[in-house]
Amino acid sequence: MENNHDHILILDFGSQVTQLIARRVRESGVYCEIWPFNQADEDRIKAYNPKGIILSGGPCSVTDADSPRAPDCVFTMGVPVLGICYGQQTMTVQLGGIVEKGDHQEFGRAYVDVKEHCTITQGLWEKGAYEQVWMSHGDRVTKIPDGFTVVGTSKGAPYAFIANDEKRFYGVQFHPEVVHTPHGAALIKNFTHAVCGCAGDWTMAAFRAEAIEKIRTQVGDKKVICGLSGGVDSSVTAVLLHEAIGDQLTCIYVDTGLMRAGESDQVVDLFREHYHIPLIHEDAGKLFLGALEKIDDPEIKRKAIGALFIDTFEDVAGRIGGADFLAQGTLYPDVIESVSFTGGPSVTIKSHHNVGGLPERMNMGLVEPLRELFKDEVRALGRELGMPEDFIRRHPFPGPGLAIRIPGVITPEKLAILRKADAIYLEEIANAGLYDTIWQAFAVLLPVKTVGVMGDSRSYEYVCALRAVTSTDGMTADYYPFPHDFLGRTATRIINEVRGINRVVYDITSKPPGTIEWE
Ligand code: XMP
Repeated sequence: MENNHDHILILDFGSQVTQLIARRVRESGVYCEIWPFNQADEDRIKAYNPKGIILSGGPCSVTDADSPRAPDCVFTMGVPVLGICYGQQTMTVQLGGIVEKGDHQEFGRAYVDVKEHCTITQGLWEKGAYEQVWMSHGDRVTKIPDGFTVVGTSKGAPYAFIANDEKRFYGVQFHPEVVHTPHGAALIKNFTHAVCGCAGDWTMAAFRAEAIEKIRTQVGDKKVICGLSGGVDSSVTAVLLHEAIGDQLTCIYVDTGLMRAGESDQVVDLFREHYHIPLIHEDAGKLFLGALEKIDDPEIKRKAIGALFIDTFEDVAGRIGGADFLAQGTLYPDVIESVSFTGGPSVTIKSHHNVGGLPERMNMGLVEPLRELFKDEVRALGRELGMPEDFIRRHPFPGPGLAIRIPGVITPEKLAILRKADAIYLEEIANAGLYDTIWQAFAVLLPVKTVGVMGDSRSYEYVCALRAVTSTDGMTADYYPFPHDFLGRTATRIINEVRGINRVVYDITSKPPGTIEWE
């Protein structure tokens, strides 16, 4: 972190929703970082100089021996502290109160009976009101530390909200960071502004200006290359870099031949024609399709595409005389260190394709101007940079492209069929005004032919599966509940307009147990 804005520090105790706390703090116009609780010693915290500290929830029980604690300095530095769920409980025991194992769990929607005012509730919760919150806890505070008052109680938590306004310590058993606590974001804003006195000047306009300065300082008069994928992160990275260093930047677009209908033209048009950014469009379709000709195993397919991508990229970079830096659209969620209580390596579900590994191989420095940002902030920055809205709101698209949407062997014929079906599906989604409510939607071409009847003749063609999910981060997802008439209309269009498909099915699997992509 190297910016001059006020900072909030979030100490993570392993909650699934810690990133949401950071999102709410950022939305209040305040910069924050998430650190694992056990990597925050006094020197590091003091050097970071937070205006306030938030202790997250977590899966442990403070009643267990060796359960995690906040560093003591958190409570002696004179900065405001907000403990959420586990954070409230560890704060309670560290300040002399008592937490006991609850006899029943309180999970989901609950109501807080507001007993008192405090700085965090000002302008939001009146004494005597019942306020909706979202709870998820087993243990509960049974004796509060000296100096605290009870701001609110709930059925399962007699100390659902406690405060010591003088010391500026606050503890909530519920989760203000989730949308199911209707005033949650405003409560967090009261903490960052009214309690901590943050200026709220973390805006994308300020970020843009500072990032440009930082890029200029880092790069000097050296050359930078940036791999464009057509996605939001690499596009915003490229436009920001171009604004900072002009033609010292060259973009490389490796066209794998696995892109959707019209996609490569759009990318080339936007960057070359609209932004006048030097762009190399490497048409490597034949190379990729040749290499994939006989591969039907998903993991081998992914690995082959990843390796070929790196080779191609390196080759193009060599042809233009190399560069000193590689720019990447790495985001904050990619660099947050996570707290793990389970330990052990996790299994590889899919090997993701990206340009990781390139900088070491090519011996280049890294420019990662989006490292501090969440995805929604990258979109806001894209708007700030005047990028077209349809680019900014685009659904994510995987690096291996359509290859992982054609289970089994890929042929140019199958790719052409899939492109047409996918374009019709996306057009229907846009026409129905549903594009922005859906996280990702795409067609999949199955390696299965079925019998149908078209006119008076028998057909024997491929099955097309449609997929659409809602999600906040791609980690979990729900299938999208389209109205039947939408599905019927889209299926009819695909079968009528795409030769090669005679049956359409809709995938109603959520993640888990399914994944979003089919391979
Ligand atoms: P899964 O299929 O694992 O996908 O549920 C989760 C999200 O990741 C995207 N995805 C990828 N993105 N390279 C990427 O850049 C990849 O290799 C890759 N594989 C999956 C997927 O589209 C979804 O948004």
